[in-house]
Amino acid sequence: MNIAAEVMVDSPVRETARDNDSLLILKFMVMSVVNLLIGTIQGVLQTLPEFALWIRATGPAGHMIDPLAHAHINLVGGVTLALMGIFYYILPKIIHRPIYSRTLSNTSFWFSVIGVLGFFSSLVLFGIIEGNMVLDGMTYQQALDAVGAIHHIAIITTAILMGFGYWLFITNIFLTVFKRNGGT
Ligand code: HEM
Ligand code: HEM
Repeated sequence: MNIAAEVMVDSPVRETARDNDSLLILKFMVMSVVNLLIGTIQGVLQTLPEFALWIRATGPAGHMIDPLAHAHINLVGGVTLALMGIFYYILPKIIHRPIYSRTLSNTSFWFSVIGVLGFFSSLVLFGIIEGNMVLDGMTYQQALDAVGAIHHIAIITTAILMGFGYWLFITNIFLTVFKRNGGT
């Protein structure tokens, strides 16, 4: 067996997905379940009385963690990433043409994944920092001022990345349905 063949057999991902299209769909599915794992662990933590009290006591700072971070890691990172993978699998079978652009699919995948993980992490991180400042006696506005522009920069940048993830996906689906000649 040559080295290339050994690598193919050794890697479970390669073994499962033998062509690029399957590999692409597998990437969406794997990241979907990774995000669902993070979101459901957070969900269970949220049911702990200490956690719920902390969230309630910290007001808008706690709101960034529960429900905002929780809702988006589960719905954007878990549900819609899986939906994107399902679209890429089913659409070619319905219209008997491949997805318009694999480059667009890959780019949208990375924008969505980096966007949602960044959005989630920023909400949780700034939620914890600002929440503790509020518990130390600051108002939420004072905590926001103390943290400075980085709060808005992180959240807006990662929101834009998520947005591009969706818009590139939507563009790719429209081009696949309405444009007969495929792209790259
Ligand atoms: C083990 C699984 C999960 C647990 C234990 C859990 C638990 C919770 C808890 C405790 C809350 C906060 C309720 C509150 O503060 O009033 C919440 C909110 C929420 N969860 Fe989950 N969750 C889980 C999975 C999910 C999943 C898979 C999704 C979506 C696919 C989801 C979507 C949401 C949303 C959207 C909210 C916010 C609801 C609102 O607008 O107030 N959760 N969850
Ligand atoms: C580019 C993508 C997205 C961005 C930047 C975004 C951003 C936001 C922001 C800033 C809020 C807070 C609004 C507020 O508290 O005033 C919010 C709320 C919410 N979003 Fe998104 N969102 C996106 C996509 C989605 C998608 C695709 C879903 C569902 C599939 C979703 C589900 C929710 C839910 C359930 C809430 C309410 C959470 C709560 O307060 O209980 N979002 N979103």
